[in-house]
Amino acid sequence: MQLTRLINILNGTYRVRRNVRTIASISSLSETHQMLHKTCRDFAEAELKPIAAKVDREHLYPAEQIKKMGALGLMAVSVPENIGGTGLDYLAYAIATEEISRGCASAGVIMSVNNSLYLGPLEKFGNQRQKEEFITRFTDGTRVGCFALSEPGNGSDAGAASTTANLEGNKYRINGTKCWITNGYEAEATVVFATTDKSKKHKGISALIIPKPIDGLNLGKKEDKLGIRGSSTCSLIFEDCLIPKENLLGEPGMGFKIAMITLDSGRIGIASQALGIAQASLDCAIEYASKRIAFGSSILKLQAIQQKIADMALQLESARLLTWRAAVLKDEGKPFTKEAAMAKLAASETATFCAHQCIQVLGGMGYVADMPAERYYRDARITEIYEGTSEIQRLVIAGNLVKEYGLN
Ligand code: CAA
Repeated sequence: MQLTRLINILNGTYRVRRNVRTIASISSLSETHQMLHKTCRDFAEAELKPIAAKVDREHLYPAEQIKKMGALGLMAVSVPENIGGTGLDYLAYAIATEEISRGCASAGVIMSVNNSLYLGPLEKFGNQRQKEEFITRFTDGTRVGCFALSEPGNGSDAGAASTTANLEGNKYRINGTKCWITNGYEAEATVVFATTDKSKKHKGISALIIPKPIDGLNLGKKEDKLGIRGSSTCSLIFEDCLIPKENLLGEPGMGFKIAMITLDSGRIGIASQALGIAQASLDCAIEYASKRIAFGSSILKLQAIQQKIADMALQLESARLLTWRAAVLKDEGKPFTKEAAMAKLAASETATFCAHQCIQVLGGMGYVADMPAERYYRDARITEIYEGTSEIQRLVIAGNLVKEYGLN
Protein backbone atom coordinates (compact mmCIF):
# COMPACT_ATOMS: atom_id res chain seq x y z
CA MET A 1 0.00 0.00 0.00
CA GLN A 2 1.52 3.28 -1.09
CA LEU A 3 0.17 5.17 1.91
CA THR A 4 2.42 2.96 4.03
CA ARG A 5 5.29 4.38 2.00
CA LEU A 6 4.15 7.87 2.94
CA ILE A 7 4.09 6.90 6.62
CA ASN A 8 7.56 5.35 6.43
CA ILE A 9 8.92 8.39 4.74
CA LEU A 10 7.25 10.67 7.23
CA ASN A 11 9.08 8.78 9.94
CA GLY A 12 12.44 9.19 8.32
CA THR A 13 13.93 10.61 5.21
CA TYR A 14 12.20 13.93 4.70
CA ARG A 15 11.84 15.12 8.28
CA VAL A 16 13.81 18.28 7.69
CA ARG A 17 11.78 21.21 8.84
CA ARG A 18 10.52 21.66 12.37
CA ASN A 19 8.55 24.89 12.26
CA VAL A 20 5.88 23.79 9.81
CA ARG A 21 3.57 26.65 8.88
CA THR A 22 0.15 26.25 10.42
CA ILE A 23 -2.68 26.68 7.95
CA ALA A 24 -5.71 27.33 10.16
CA SER A 25 -7.68 24.59 8.50
CA ILE A 26 -4.93 21.96 8.33
CA SER A 27 -5.48 20.95 11.95
CA SER A 28 -9.07 20.02 11.19
CA LEU A 29 -8.07 17.68 8.36
CA SER A 30 -7.98 13.92 8.84
CA GLU A 31 -4.79 12.34 10.14
CA THR A 32 -4.07 10.93 6.66
CA HIS A 33 -4.38 14.37 5.05
CA GLN A 34 -2.22 15.98 7.72
CA MET A 35 0.41 13.30 7.30
CA LEU A 36 0.33 13.67 3.53
CA HIS A 37 0.64 17.45 3.89
CA LYS A 38 3.70 17.14 6.08
CA THR A 39 5.32 14.47 3.92
CA CYS A 40 4.87 16.58 0.77
CA ARG A 41 6.02 19.74 2.56
CA ASP A 42 9.18 18.03 3.81
CA PHE A 43 9.83 16.37 0.45
CA ALA A 44 9.48 19.71 -1.35
CA GLU A 45 11.83 21.43 1.11
CA ALA A 46 14.47 18.71 0.81
CA GLU A 47 14.22 17.71 -2.84
CA LEU A 48 12.50 20.43 -4.86
CA LYS A 49 13.26 23.85 -3.41
CA PRO A 50 17.03 23.36 -3.78
CA ILE A 51 16.78 22.51 -7.50
CA ALA A 52 13.91 24.79 -8.56
CA ALA A 53 16.10 27.71 -9.72
CA LYS A 54 18.34 25.42 -11.82
CA VAL A 55 15.32 23.60 -13.28
CA ASP A 56 13.96 27.00 -14.33
CA ARG A 57 17.24 28.47 -15.59
CA GLU A 58 18.27 25.42 -17.62
CA HIS A 59 14.76 24.29 -18.67
CA LEU A 60 15.46 20.92 -17.03
CA TYR A 61 12.81 18.23 -16.69
CA PRO A 62 13.28 17.07 -13.05
CA ALA A 63 13.23 13.35 -13.91
CA GLU A 64 14.81 12.07 -10.69
CA GLN A 65 12.49 14.12 -8.49
CA ILE A 66 9.43 12.98 -10.47
CA LYS A 67 10.50 9.35 -9.91
CA LYS A 68 10.79 10.03 -6.19
CA MET A 69 7.35 11.63 -6.24
CA GLY A 70 6.11 8.46 -7.98
CA ALA A 71 7.66 6.35 -5.22
CA LEU A 72 5.76 8.46 -2.69
CA GLY A 73 2.52 7.76 -4.55
CA LEU A 74 2.13 11.34 -5.78
CA MET A 75 1.89 10.62 -9.51
CA ALA A 76 -1.41 8.75 -9.15
CA VAL A 77 -2.86 10.07 -5.90
CA SER A 78 -6.54 9.28 -6.42
CA VAL A 79 -6.17 6.26 -8.73
CA PRO A 80 -7.39 3.08 -6.97
CA GLU A 81 -4.69 0.90 -5.42
CA ASN A 82 -5.69 -2.22 -7.39
CA ILE A 83 -4.46 -0.54 -10.60
CA GLY A 84 -1.29 0.88 -9.09
CA GLY A 85 -2.50 4.16 -7.62
CA THR A 86 -2.36 5.51 -4.07
CA GLY A 87 -6.11 5.26 -3.50
CA LEU A 88 -6.51 8.60 -1.72
CA ASP A 89 -9.18 11.22 -2.42
CA TYR A 90 -9.13 14.47 -4.39
CA LEU A 91 -8.65 16.58 -1.28
CA ALA A 92 -5.43 14.65 -0.73
CA TYR A 93 -4.44 15.34 -4.33
CA ALA A 94 -5.12 19.08 -3.87
CA ILE A 95 -3.05 19.21 -0.67
CA ALA A 96 -0.16 17.29 -2.25
CA THR A 97 -0.13 19.36 -5.45
CA GLU A 98 0.00 22.60 -3.48
CA GLU A 99 2.93 21.47 -1.38
CA ILE A 100 4.87 20.12 -4.37
CA SER A 101 4.25 23.37 -6.28
CA ARG A 102 5.36 25.43 -3.31
CA GLY A 103 8.77 23.79 -3.81
CA CYS A 104 8.78 23.76 -7.63
CA ALA A 105 5.87 24.83 -9.82
CA SER A 106 7.23 22.84 -12.78
CA ALA A 107 7.12 19.61 -10.76
CA GLY A 108 3.60 20.66 -9.70
CA VAL A 109 2.26 20.86 -13.23
CA ILE A 110 4.01 17.67 -14.39
CA MET A 111 2.29 15.92 -11.47
CA SER A 112 -1.06 17.61 -12.05
CA VAL A 113 -1.24 16.77 -15.77
CA ASN A 114 -0.33 13.13 -15.14
CA ASN A 115 -2.86 12.80 -12.30
CA SER A 116 -5.86 14.69 -13.61
CA LEU A 117 -5.59 15.11 -17.35
CA TYR A 118 -4.00 11.78 -18.27
CA LEU A 119 -4.88 9.20 -15.59
CA GLY A 120 -8.21 10.88 -14.73
CA PRO A 121 -10.08 10.18 -18.00
CA LEU A 122 -8.50 6.72 -18.33
CA GLU A 123 -9.68 5.75 -14.90
CA LYS A 124 -13.19 7.12 -15.45
CA PHE A 125 -13.81 6.07 -19.05
CA GLY A 126 -11.22 3.37 -19.81
CA ASN A 127 -12.08 -0.34 -20.09
CA GLN A 128 -10.16 -3.03 -18.21
CA ARG A 129 -7.62 -3.58 -21.00
CA GLN A 130 -6.96 0.15 -21.41
CA LYS A 131 -6.50 0.55 -17.66
CA GLU A 132 -4.03 -2.33 -17.53
CA GLU A 133 -2.06 -1.02 -20.49
CA PHE A 134 -2.20 2.74 -19.90
CA ILE A 135 -2.67 3.34 -16.18
CA THR A 136 -0.56 0.97 -14.12
CA ARG A 137 2.76 1.76 -15.82
CA PHE A 138 2.12 5.49 -15.43
CA THR A 139 1.68 5.59 -11.67
CA ASP A 140 5.25 5.38 -10.35
CA GLY A 141 6.86 8.44 -11.93
CA THR A 142 9.00 6.49 -14.42
CA ARG A 143 6.55 7.43 -17.19
CA VAL A 144 4.17 10.34 -17.62
CA GLY A 145 1.18 10.93 -19.86
CA CYS A 146 -0.35 14.01 -21.44
CA PHE A 147 -3.66 15.40 -22.73
CA ALA A 148 -4.05 16.79 -26.23
CA LEU A 149 -7.10 19.01 -26.74
CA SER A 150 -6.00 22.49 -27.93
CA GLU A 151 -5.09 23.15 -31.56
CA PRO A 152 -3.39 26.06 -33.31
CA GLY A 153 -6.83 27.23 -34.49
CA ASN A 154 -8.79 26.57 -31.29
CA GLY A 155 -7.89 26.86 -27.63
CA SER A 156 -10.80 28.24 -25.64
CA ASP A 157 -13.30 27.00 -28.24
CA ALA A 158 -12.52 23.37 -27.53
CA GLY A 159 -15.51 22.10 -29.50
CA ALA A 160 -14.05 23.34 -32.78
CA ALA A 161 -11.43 20.56 -33.05
CA SER A 162 -10.18 20.08 -36.61
CA THR A 163 -7.93 17.08 -35.97
CA THR A 164 -9.62 14.07 -37.56
CA ALA A 165 -9.76 10.38 -36.70
CA ASN A 166 -11.25 8.41 -39.60
CA LEU A 167 -12.16 4.78 -39.04
CA GLU A 168 -10.64 2.54 -41.73
CA GLY A 169 -11.29 -1.13 -40.99
CA ASN A 170 -9.90 -1.82 -37.54
CA LYS A 171 -7.88 1.39 -37.26
CA TYR A 172 -8.36 5.10 -36.83
CA ARG A 173 -6.28 7.29 -39.12
CA ILE A 174 -5.36 10.49 -37.23
CA ASN A 175 -4.41 13.74 -38.96
CA GLY A 176 -3.96 17.18 -37.43
CA THR A 177 -1.91 19.19 -34.94
CA LYS A 178 -2.41 19.53 -31.21
CA CYS A 179 -0.58 22.29 -29.37
CA TRP A 180 0.37 23.59 -25.90
CA ILE A 181 0.77 20.02 -24.66
CA THR A 182 2.24 19.95 -21.15
CA ASN A 183 4.50 16.87 -20.69
CA GLY A 184 4.28 16.49 -24.48
CA TYR A 185 7.98 15.89 -24.89
CA GLU A 186 8.47 13.19 -22.25
CA ALA A 187 5.00 11.61 -22.32
CA GLU A 188 4.83 7.95 -23.31
CA ALA A 189 1.09 8.13 -24.01
CA THR A 190 -1.50 10.78 -24.68
CA VAL A 191 -5.24 11.17 -24.57
CA VAL A 192 -6.17 12.86 -27.87
CA PHE A 193 -9.43 14.49 -28.94
CA ALA A 194 -10.29 14.23 -32.64
CA THR A 195 -13.33 14.56 -34.87
CA THR A 196 -14.77 11.22 -35.96
CA ASP A 197 -17.94 12.76 -37.45
CA LYS A 198 -17.66 16.38 -38.57
CA SER A 199 -21.40 16.76 -39.24
CA LYS A 200 -22.15 16.37 -35.52
CA LYS A 201 -19.88 19.26 -34.40
CA HIS A 202 -18.87 18.80 -30.72
CA LYS A 203 -20.94 15.59 -30.57
CA GLY A 204 -18.70 14.17 -33.30
CA ILE A 205 -15.50 14.50 -31.25
CA SER A 206 -14.04 11.28 -29.84
CA ALA A 207 -11.25 10.59 -27.33
CA LEU A 208 -8.44 8.18 -28.19
CA ILE A 209 -5.54 6.86 -26.20
CA ILE A 210 -2.29 6.84 -28.16
CA PRO A 211 1.05 5.39 -27.07
CA LYS A 212 4.24 7.40 -27.79
CA PRO A 213 6.44 7.17 -29.74
CA ILE A 214 4.42 5.85 -32.69
CA ASP A 215 4.70 6.12 -36.48
CA GLY A 216 2.87 9.16 -37.83
CA LEU A 217 3.28 11.24 -34.67
CA ASN A 218 6.00 13.89 -34.60
CA LEU A 219 6.78 16.43 -31.91
CA GLY A 220 6.96 20.16 -32.57
CA LYS A 221 9.68 22.32 -31.02
CA LYS A 222 9.83 22.66 -27.26
CA GLU A 223 8.22 26.00 -26.45
CA ASP A 224 10.49 28.60 -24.83
CA LYS A 225 8.21 29.75 -22.02
CA LEU A 226 8.01 32.61 -19.54
CA GLY A 227 7.67 30.23 -16.58
CA ILE A 228 7.24 26.60 -15.48
CA ARG A 229 10.29 25.97 -17.61
CA GLY A 230 11.08 22.57 -16.11
CA SER A 231 7.94 21.15 -17.70
CA SER A 232 7.94 20.65 -21.44
CA THR A 233 5.30 22.11 -23.75
CA CYS A 234 5.18 21.18 -27.43
CA SER A 235 2.91 20.38 -30.35
CA LEU A 236 1.90 16.86 -31.37
CA ILE A 237 1.74 16.57 -35.15
CA PHE A 238 -0.28 13.65 -36.50
CA GLU A 239 0.25 12.62 -40.11
CA ASP A 240 -1.59 9.43 -41.06
CA CYS A 241 -1.03 7.99 -37.61
CA LEU A 242 -2.83 4.63 -37.37
CA ILE A 243 -4.35 3.63 -34.03
CA PRO A 244 -6.19 0.37 -33.26
CA LYS A 245 -9.90 0.97 -32.90
CA GLU A 246 -9.73 -0.58 -29.39
CA ASN A 247 -7.94 2.60 -28.28
CA LEU A 248 -11.14 4.61 -28.42
CA LEU A 249 -11.90 5.92 -24.92
CA GLY A 250 -15.60 5.63 -24.08
CA GLU A 251 -18.06 5.73 -27.00
CA PRO A 252 -17.64 7.48 -30.37
CA GLY A 253 -18.76 11.12 -30.00
CA MET A 254 -18.18 11.22 -26.24
CA GLY A 255 -14.91 13.10 -26.57
CA PHE A 256 -16.14 16.62 -25.80
CA LYS A 257 -17.91 15.47 -22.62
CA ILE A 258 -14.82 13.50 -21.60
CA ALA A 259 -12.68 16.62 -22.12
CA MET A 260 -15.05 18.85 -20.11
CA ILE A 261 -15.41 16.36 -17.25
CA THR A 262 -11.62 15.88 -17.18
CA LEU A 263 -10.98 19.63 -17.13
CA ASP A 264 -13.34 20.09 -14.17
CA SER A 265 -10.97 17.93 -12.11
CA GLY A 266 -7.86 19.32 -13.78
CA ARG A 267 -8.85 22.82 -12.67
CA ILE A 268 -8.65 21.68 -9.03
CA GLY A 269 -5.08 20.56 -9.78
CA ILE A 270 -4.12 23.89 -11.35
CA ALA A 271 -5.82 25.79 -8.53
CA SER A 272 -3.64 23.81 -6.12
CA GLN A 273 -0.52 24.51 -8.15
CA ALA A 274 -1.40 28.23 -8.00
CA LEU A 275 -1.88 28.02 -4.23
CA GLY A 276 1.61 26.56 -3.92
CA ILE A 277 3.10 29.46 -5.88
CA ALA A 278 1.08 31.98 -3.83
CA GLN A 279 2.18 30.39 -0.54
CA ALA A 280 5.82 30.37 -1.64
CA SER A 281 5.48 34.09 -2.48
CA LEU A 282 3.98 34.88 0.92
CA ASP A 283 6.69 32.85 2.71
CA CYS A 284 9.39 34.64 0.73
CA ALA A 285 7.93 38.11 1.42
CA ILE A 286 7.62 37.52 5.18
CA GLU A 287 11.06 35.95 5.49
CA TYR A 288 12.73 38.78 3.57
CA ALA A 289 10.79 41.51 5.35
CA SER A 290 11.74 40.07 8.73
CA LYS A 291 15.44 40.44 7.88
CA ARG A 292 15.52 43.64 5.85
CA ILE A 293 16.26 46.72 7.95
CA ALA A 294 15.00 50.17 6.95
CA PHE A 295 14.08 53.24 8.97
CA GLY A 296 15.68 51.67 12.04
CA SER A 297 13.82 48.34 12.18
CA SER A 298 12.84 45.31 10.11
CA ILE A 299 10.45 46.34 7.35
CA LEU A 300 8.03 43.68 8.60
CA LYS A 301 7.16 46.18 11.32
CA LEU A 302 6.12 48.83 8.77
CA GLN A 303 2.39 49.14 8.25
CA ALA A 304 2.82 49.47 4.47
CA ILE A 305 4.41 46.00 4.40
CA GLN A 306 1.92 44.54 6.87
CA GLN A 307 -0.97 45.69 4.64
CA LYS A 308 0.52 43.78 1.73
CA ILE A 309 1.13 40.66 3.77
CA ALA A 310 -2.39 40.70 5.20
CA ASP A 311 -3.91 41.05 1.71
CA MET A 312 -1.77 38.19 0.40
CA ALA A 313 -2.73 35.90 3.31
CA LEU A 314 -6.41 36.80 2.97
CA GLN A 315 -6.57 36.00 -0.74
CA LEU A 316 -4.55 32.84 -0.25
CA GLU A 317 -6.73 31.41 2.51
CA SER A 318 -9.90 32.30 0.59
CA ALA A 319 -8.65 30.61 -2.58
CA ARG A 320 -7.51 27.56 -0.59
CA LEU A 321 -10.95 27.15 0.96
CA LEU A 322 -12.56 27.39 -2.49
CA THR A 323 -10.13 24.78 -3.82
CA TRP A 324 -10.67 22.37 -0.96
CA ARG A 325 -14.44 22.84 -1.24
CA ALA A 326 -14.33 21.87 -4.92
CA ALA A 327 -12.20 18.81 -4.08
CA VAL A 328 -14.53 17.72 -1.28
CA LEU A 329 -17.60 18.09 -3.54
CA LYS A 330 -15.89 15.86 -6.10
CA ASP A 331 -15.03 13.35 -3.37
CA GLU A 332 -18.67 13.35 -2.26
CA GLY A 333 -19.82 12.65 -5.83
CA LYS A 334 -21.66 16.00 -6.02
CA PRO A 335 -21.56 18.47 -8.95
CA PHE A 336 -18.46 20.64 -8.76
CA THR A 337 -18.02 22.24 -12.22
CA LYS A 338 -18.82 25.77 -11.00
CA GLU A 339 -16.84 25.34 -7.79
CA ALA A 340 -13.76 24.04 -9.66
CA ALA A 341 -13.94 27.04 -12.01
CA MET A 342 -14.24 29.39 -9.01
CA ALA A 343 -11.29 27.70 -7.32
CA LYS A 344 -9.10 27.93 -10.42
CA LEU A 345 -10.06 31.54 -11.08
CA ALA A 346 -9.49 32.64 -7.48
CA ALA A 347 -6.29 30.67 -6.93
CA SER A 348 -4.63 31.66 -10.21
CA GLU A 349 -5.37 35.36 -9.73
CA THR A 350 -4.15 34.99 -6.13
CA ALA A 351 -0.88 33.47 -7.34
CA THR A 352 -0.28 36.41 -9.69
CA PHE A 353 -1.26 38.90 -6.96
CA CYS A 354 0.93 37.30 -4.27
CA ALA A 355 3.95 36.98 -6.58
CA HIS A 356 3.50 40.62 -7.63
CA GLN A 357 3.29 41.77 -4.00
CA CYS A 358 6.27 39.59 -3.08
CA ILE A 359 8.41 41.40 -5.66
CA GLN A 360 7.18 44.72 -4.30
CA VAL A 361 8.16 43.77 -0.73
CA LEU A 362 11.61 42.69 -1.91
CA GLY A 363 12.10 45.80 -4.06
CA GLY A 364 15.15 45.52 -6.31
CA MET A 365 15.95 42.09 -4.87
CA GLY A 366 12.58 40.90 -6.12
CA TYR A 367 13.52 41.77 -9.69
CA VAL A 368 16.72 39.73 -9.93
CA ALA A 369 17.22 35.98 -10.18
CA ASP A 370 19.24 35.82 -6.92
CA MET A 371 15.90 35.52 -5.16
CA PRO A 372 12.96 33.29 -6.23
CA ALA A 373 10.35 36.09 -6.35
CA GLU A 374 10.77 36.81 -10.06
CA ARG A 375 10.42 33.08 -10.81
CA TYR A 376 7.22 32.89 -8.76
CA TYR A 377 5.89 35.81 -10.82
CA ARG A 378 6.74 34.10 -14.11
CA ASP A 379 5.41 30.72 -12.91
CA ALA A 380 2.15 32.21 -11.61
CA ARG A 381 1.15 33.77 -14.92
CA ILE A 382 0.34 30.53 -16.76
CA THR A 383 -2.12 29.42 -14.09
CA GLU A 384 -4.48 32.12 -15.41
CA ILE A 385 -4.21 30.66 -18.90
CA TYR A 386 -3.93 26.87 -19.11
CA GLU A 387 -6.80 24.45 -18.47
CA GLY A 388 -9.13 27.33 -19.32
CA THR A 389 -8.29 31.04 -19.10
CA SER A 390 -9.73 33.23 -16.34
CA GLU A 391 -12.24 34.48 -18.92
CA ILE A 392 -13.38 30.89 -19.59
CA GLN A 393 -13.70 30.21 -15.84
CA ARG A 394 -15.99 33.26 -15.56
CA LEU A 395 -18.05 31.90 -18.49
CA VAL A 396 -18.36 28.51 -16.78
CA ILE A 397 -19.35 30.13 -13.46
CA ALA A 398 -21.95 32.39 -15.10
CA GLY A 399 -23.30 29.55 -17.27
CA ASN A 400 -23.82 27.36 -14.21
CA LEU A 401 -25.45 30.20 -12.26
CA VAL A 402 -27.88 30.78 -15.11
CA LYS A 403 -28.80 27.07 -14.94
CA GLU A 404 -29.17 27.22 -11.13
CA TYR A 405 -31.59 30.13 -11.53
CA GLY A 406 -33.54 28.05 -14.07
CA LEU A 407 -32.99 30.70 -16.74
CA ASN A 408 -31.35 28.66 -19.51
N1 CAA B 1 -19.25 18.47 -17.68
C1 CAA B 1 -20.03 17.70 -18.47
N2 CAA B 1 -20.54 18.14 -19.64
C2 CAA B 1 -20.27 19.42 -19.98
C3 CAA B 1 -19.48 20.28 -19.19
C4 CAA B 1 -18.96 19.74 -17.99
N3 CAA B 1 -18.20 20.49 -17.19
N4 CAA B 1 -19.37 21.46 -19.81
C5 CAA B 1 -20.09 21.38 -20.93
N5 CAA B 1 -20.63 20.14 -21.03
C6 CAA B 1 -21.52 19.63 -22.09
C7 CAA B 1 -22.81 20.43 -22.15
O1 CAA B 1 -23.76 19.91 -21.25
C8 CAA B 1 -23.23 20.24 -23.59
O2 CAA B 1 -23.80 18.96 -23.71
P1 CAA B 1 -24.92 18.64 -24.84
O3 CAA B 1 -24.30 18.91 -26.16
O4 CAA B 1 -25.25 17.20 -24.61
O5 CAA B 1 -26.06 19.59 -24.55
C9 CAA B 1 -21.90 20.20 -24.32
O6 CAA B 1 -20.90 19.84 -23.37
C10 CAA B 1 -21.53 21.54 -24.94
O7 CAA B 1 -21.57 22.50 -23.91
P2 CAA B 1 -21.44 24.06 -24.20
O8 CAA B 1 -22.47 24.44 -25.20
O9 CAA B 1 -21.43 24.77 -22.90
O10 CAA B 1 -20.01 24.12 -24.89
P3 CAA B 1 -19.23 25.34 -25.55
O11 CAA B 1 -18.79 24.91 -26.90
O12 CAA B 1 -20.04 26.59 -25.43
O13 CAA B 1 -17.91 25.42 -24.65
C11 CAA B 1 -16.51 26.00 -22.82
C12 CAA B 1 -17.91 25.56 -23.32
C13 CAA B 1 -16.69 26.09 -21.29
C14 CAA B 1 -16.10 27.35 -23.36
C15 CAA B 1 -15.49 24.91 -23.18
O14 CAA B 1 -15.22 24.90 -24.55
C16 CAA B 1 -14.17 25.09 -22.42
O15 CAA B 1 -14.04 24.67 -21.28
N6 CAA B 1 -13.15 25.70 -23.09
C17 CAA B 1 -11.81 25.81 -22.50
C18 CAA B 1 -10.99 24.64 -22.90
C19 CAA B 1 -9.78 24.48 -22.05
O16 CAA B 1 -9.84 24.55 -20.82
N7 CAA B 1 -8.65 24.19 -22.69
C20 CAA B 1 -7.43 23.91 -22.01
C21 CAA B 1 -6.83 22.66 -22.60
S1 CAA B 1 -5.79 21.69 -21.60
C22 CAA B 1 -4.38 22.61 -21.38
O17 CAA B 1 -4.46 23.69 -20.91
C23 CAA B 1 -3.07 22.08 -21.81
C24 CAA B 1 -2.30 21.40 -20.78
O18 CAA B 1 -1.54 20.50 -21.14
C25 CAA B 1 -2.32 21.82 -19.34
